[in-house]
Amino acid sequence: MARLAVFTERYTIRSSVELTALTNFRLAAFEQGHELDFLFKSELKYIRNYDGILIRALTDPLNTSYVVARHAEMLGKRVLDHSSAILICCDKVNMYRRLEARGVPIPETRYLAESDLTAVTAVRLFEELGVPLVLKAPNSSFSAYVDRVTTPEAFVKVGRRFLRRADRVVVQQYMPSDFDWRVITLAGRVLAVVKYAFAPAQWKLMDRTAEGEWANVVATPLADADPQLLATALAASDAIGESLYGVDLKEIDGEYYVIEVNDNPTIAAGEEDQANPEIYAEIIRHLAGDG
Ligand SMILES: Nc1ncnc2c1ncn2[C@@H]1O[C@H](COP(=O)(O)OP(=O)(O)O)[C@@H](O)[C@H]1O
Ligand SMILES: [Mg+2]
Repeated sequence: MARLAVFTERYTIRSSVELTALTNFRLAAFEQGHELDFLFKSELKYIRNYDGILIRALTDPLNTSYVVARHAEMLGKRVLDHSSAILICCDKVNMYRRLEARGVPIPETRYLAESDLTAVTAVRLFEELGVPLVLKAPNSSFSAYVDRVTTPEAFVKVGRRFLRRADRVVVQQYMPSDFDWRVITLAGRVLAVVKYAFAPAQWKLMDRTAEGEWANVVATPLADADPQLLATALAASDAIGESLYGVDLKEIDGEYYVIEVNDNPTIAAGEEDQANPEIYAEIIRHLAGDG
């Protein structure tokens, strides 16, 4: 019997599909003969009472969730996400460099400092990588600081805006598609595959300038998924280190390119778990040290 805790925050519980997912984790723990409590910000000193901690809250090196991960690790507990996964995934420059170092396919990518952010650089990159270009702030999440530009003026303007948040801006070749593949992995295994199909006329997961429409989640049974998709997602996860990930990929002419490795991937009831209801049990088993 293991004593497990889910660290979560108020905003997670406010979403009914995420709350149902939390209760699914609890049921899975009970089914396996474990205890599972929910742990909130004011209760961090009790981390020592548990064998394993699952973080289901926004992660950022400046958030409580990171303190939870570090604290649990220092006490020798099993924890998802690993603190190193939070650190790496919250910095796209670090994340992409690790993928490149392992030869994991990603879109053509450049990292620009403020001094490189000129119209001359823009013209050169439009020639090298094509039009449009995708610009990203290294610490973007939920598509918030990801934009598409087609002119040198927009390139410099958007780049400047993103550089207010960091000392580098990521510039990428644009890979058109009307969905992202999302592959959820844990310790070298694939737990689930879904498609995030974009709302009509949107090019990214969530377009905040439009009506704020989220992508539609389409389940894909693991047996139907292309082995190359799964292999690419596992290679990307391995390049970051052992933890729980949601890997986003584009499929272009039968080839897969990693757009992002996310720590703390969303697992919402009726969405990511549609074709893989055992995802809760598998994560609990890992956290309890049983697999
Ligand atoms: N190079 C690219 N080409 C085409 N679309 C992209 C590219 N990079 C990102 N996107 C789209 O924008 C979304 C957000 O980008 P991402 O890098 O995942 O940033 P965030 O961390 O904000 O989610 C992705 O889910 C994808 O749909
Ligand atoms: Mg993303």
